[in-house]
Amino acid sequence: PPCRVIAIAGSLRRDSINRLLLRAAAEMAPTDLQVDVYDGLTAIPMFDEDSEKFMTATGPVRALAAQVSAADAVLIATPEYNHSIPGVLKNAIDWLSRGSIGDVLAGKPVAVIGASTGRWGTRLAQTALRQVLFATGSVVLSGPAVYLNNGAAAFDAQGRLIDPATRASLGHVLDMMRRASVTH
Ligand code: FNR
Repeated sequence: PPCRVIAIAGSLRRDSINRLLLRAAAEMAPTDLQVDVYDGLTAIPMFDEDSEKFMTATGPVRALAAQVSAADAVLIATPEYNHSIPGVLKNAIDWLSRGSIGDVLAGKPVAVIGASTGRWGTRLAQTALRQVLFATGSVVLSGPAVYLNNGAAAFDAQGRLIDPATRASLGHVLDMMRRASVTH
């Protein structure tokens, strides 16, 4: 069976360039790597310890945790909001880090990529995200990186990734994820 990757974009925006990046990864993935783009972030409630037991018993938080748990690796594409990661992404990670949902990011290989419309291509957000992923005990993959700046220009009107350099670096990230999934 192929290695399974769950790909999470840290944006709720319908036309998110980070989600487009993940769709490109899914389309480019070799046959032995299955990349499923998660599309349920909008339904994840704000973390609240008071309702934690109730919220993790069923529903979208439980569904996300099950998908992460079943995956061999996680690919996160983060936007950059004010030099860090968006609150919706941090919120989802906080849920996944809890024992109540199985602490599913612990020991999980995670690769980080990102796209912004600014000049620096989410460098600060990715650094912030890697720091969070150390706290969750994830195996943060180092190696090939994607810091896509001026992100919208890399896609055509149909949302296909057309920038050759970005396609090449995304391919290297997929190779890294396949190796991590096999050896982990
Ligand atoms: C941004 N954006 C942004 N870009 C950047 O390169 N550095 C930054 O610090 C910020 N800060 C920031 C804050 C807030 C509140 C918003 C809404 C946006 C721009 C950001 O890169 C752009 O909106 C991307 O298109 C967001 O990614 P998605 O939603 O297209 O995936």
